Amino acid sequence: MKTYSIALIPGDGIGTAVTEAAFAVLEKAAAGNFRLSGTTFPWSCAFYRRTGAMMPQDGIATLRGFDAILLGAVGWPAEVPDSVSLHGLLLPIRKAFVQYANIRPHRLLPGVEGPLRAEGFDILCIRENTEGEYSGAGGRVHQGTADEVAVETSIFTRTGVERILRFGFEQARARSGRLASVTKSNAQKYSMVFWDEITHKLSAEYPDVEVTSYHIDAMAARMVMAPESLDVVVASNLFGDILTDLGAAIQGGLGFAASANINPDRSAPSMFEPVHGSAPDIAHLGIANPIAAIWSGAMMLDHLGERAAAARVMAAIERATARGIGVRPGKDRTDAIAAAVLASLD
Ligand code: IPM
Ligand code: MN
Repeated sequence: MKTYSIALIPGDGIGTAVTEAAFAVLEKAAAGNFRLSGTTFPWSCAFYRRTGAMMPQDGIATLRGFDAILLGAVGWPAEVPDSVSLHGLLLPIRKAFVQYANIRPHRLLPGVEGPLRAEGFDILCIRENTEGEYSGAGGRVHQGTADEVAVETSIFTRTGVERILRFGFEQARARSGRLASVTKSNAQKYSMVFWDEITHKLSAEYPDVEVTSYHIDAMAARMVMAPESLDVVVASNLFGDILTDLGAAIQGGLGFAASANINPDRSAPSMFEPVHGSAPDIAHLGIANPIAAIWSGAMMLDHLGERAAAARVMAAIERATARGIGVRPGKDRTDAIAAAVLASLD
């Protein structure tokens, strides 16, 4: 039987509970058809407190041997500054494994009432995931003095912009044929004009895709006011980060927002994680919604080529939410939601 090796990084806070719930569902979905061999890595802020690093020095080399990575959440700011924990674990994995396409589906599941609408919201955000505003290029001088200067430079490369836009065009082609490309080229006249130019150039290669460029501020309003006019949305790293929390809110909350950090060339493992963070405020209450993590797991099965199993997991999630389970934040316990999805798996 085909076996996939999965690196499990539950991380911090609610990451542990949602990863456990998701992996149990995936294992059941696999039963009889393929195997998932999970190896858990305790890399987290607690690990940092013990060892002085978020993961061992050879962490990236260790992960490289796996077929995929399932991650819960990273961050425990009371103990480790977020700028340290995220730059020590999550962000280096995205970059080292060239997971340049961050796919984030935002749609209302059956039974879920979003704060703005109960139906008619279904968009796919494609977020650049390795460069742009998250490049980490910059520095501080004259620290602690009145003359202090902080510089953080966004880096946009032709390779990086072209490949994420191509990915967006391909996704649009596979869905409705509509692509929205997001920039702020009216204010940022180098990087964002560059992005718009490449969008325009590539559009000639995709005559079947109708591409429209929007500014990020107008896009935020459009996602609220007229989301039915949107389908696939492609944006830079930071813009995509912000828009996908908005998308998560409109789809009913962060408990429903799944994501896949994809290396489209398959030269290294891809990583699957809910959009939400470690939620320290509810971490010990047992009420985290595991649906975002389970949905991310379904995206992992899909990426591994197990499309039928992925579809069965999605159907199980939808059967549970249609019955009202897990649809309101804080109402159902993590275990109860996970059990309902498990029981709904045919
Ligand atoms: C996300 C998160 C991360 C990001 C943080 C935790 C660094 O917000 O995956 O959306 O900004 O990419
Ligand atoms: Mn985010």
